[in-house]
Amino acid sequence: MEYKKISSSKIATIGVGTWGIGGKIEREQVTRQQRQQWAAAIREAIDLGMTHIDASEIYAGGLAEEIIGEAIKGLDREEIFITTKAGMEHLGREEMVKACERSLKRLGTSYADLYMPQRPSQEVPIAETMKALEELHEKGLVRHIGVSNFTKNSLLEAQGCLKNERVSAVQDEHNLLRQNTELLRMCTEQKMLLIAYRPLAKGELSQQGIPILDGIAQKYGKTPSQVALNWLTGQERVVTIPKATSREHMLENLGALGWKMTRQDRRKLSGIGKETAIGSHALITNT
Ligand SMILES: NC(=O)c1ccc[n+]([C@@H]2O[C@H](COP(=O)([O-])OP(=O)(O)OC[C@H]3O[C@@H](n4cnc5c(N)ncnc54)[C@H](OP(=O)(O)O)[C@@H]3O)[C@@H](O)[C@H]2O)c1
Repeated sequence: MEYKKISSSKIATIGVGTWGIGGKIEREQVTRQQRQQWAAAIREAIDLGMTHIDASEIYAGGLAEEIIGEAIKGLDREEIFITTKAGMEHLGREEMVKACERSLKRLGTSYADLYMPQRPSQEVPIAETMKALEELHEKGLVRHIGVSNFTKNSLLEAQGCLKNERVSAVQDEHNLLRQNTELLRMCTEQKMLLIAYRPLAKGELSQQGIPILDGIAQKYGKTPSQVALNWLTGQERVVTIPKATSREHMLENLGALGWKMTRQDRRKLSGIGKETAIGSHALITNT
């Protein structure tokens, strides 16, 4: 595994997403066997080196966090990096502290390595949310502070609200079809990590059909998924969290590491995003 720096800690360049873990059905309908299968998939990812696990209190109504808790039981906690998030309705000071405590209980851990609001609230001022995050950090419940789905201005505002800490990481959509160039530039300037979500555009980039991507994959003897992930991890400030539940997909995704494309090929891939911006690929569907 390759690692990048997040403030004073390190984080796996390829981690594991958990949106969809826990299912989209009532928790009572989830069988013991399903839970065990999901926990085994997370454990497999960790064993393969994908030690950054991305969670949220809103994934399957908290069940995803419980399943992660089952997966990490008995493992050396210091070897695992857990990110989790507070839902939009829990961004007030008191609500956020309680939401974080509930998440930690479900995860079966005493701290989150990274904690962030899932997206900004329409009602709660950013200053209040950042104060809650700083309080959680002071209490030792949270090691690093992040934000997710913030605009450039709200990110700057969030950073300005922190007194003794800083925003270490920003999570946002960033992939070949949705290239978040402006945010990437900002993360570089502000020395923040960009955690790219939907790195495979929910599996769309794993399929053939984008000629530039297919051509480059063929040239390097890689798959489209591996090229799409390598394009991300080759960016200095970027780590990513593809969600993969089968060993086959996990191993394929790890094959994105350990090799480099030429600058010219990277530039060609960046052109895919520009074409997408003017609508030549309409491949993305919303979560
Ligand atoms: N902060 C936010 O608001 C936010 C929003 C969206 C997502 N996220 C986080 O980011 C993570 C990743 O995003 P995502 O799950 O939406 O999309 P994604 O990682 O781009 O795509 C996941 C899909 O791709 C498939 N896949 C993975 N590897 C593959 C491979 N090598 N070949 C073919 N298919 C492959 C997976 O199938 P299998 O499961 O069958 O392997 C799954 O259906 C989420 O799980 C979540 O943790 C955060």
